[in-house]
Amino acid sequence: TFVVTEPCIQCKYTDCVVVCPMDCFFEGPNFLVIHPDECIDCSMCVAECPVGAIVGDREIAPQQAHFIEINRQLANNPDWQRITARKPPLPDHEHWARETVKLAQLER
Ligand code: SF4
Ligand code: F3S
Repeated sequence: TFVVTEPCIQCKYTDCVVVCPMDCFFEGPNFLVIHPDECIDCSMCVAECPVGAIVGDREIAPQQAHFIEINRQLANNPDWQRITARKPPLPDHEHWARETVKLAQLER
């Protein structure tokens, strides 16, 4: 399955959601996740993300491996809704796109 990782936090560009044939992205306040049981591994979304946040679970860096479980948990959070249409990124996306350590910012 493919996984949304730390660069997405506080940016949320949403370019990824429009290409997904399974519509399996879920949205929270400042992050998106992929539902691991719905993703068909097509990899279409990977190139769409301007900050390279989407990676395959088999090639994920060890420092980002905890995002596999974060995607599973938040995709099953009833407060997180399926998102299929693009929307503007978060207001401070340019600043946050340059930051790499953002997990503490994640709003669940
Ligand atoms: Fe959707 Fe394909 Fe990306 Fe999985 S890999 S989230 S199915 S676009
Ligand atoms: Fe996030 Fe990249 Fe999609 S920033 S919302 S994974 S395009």
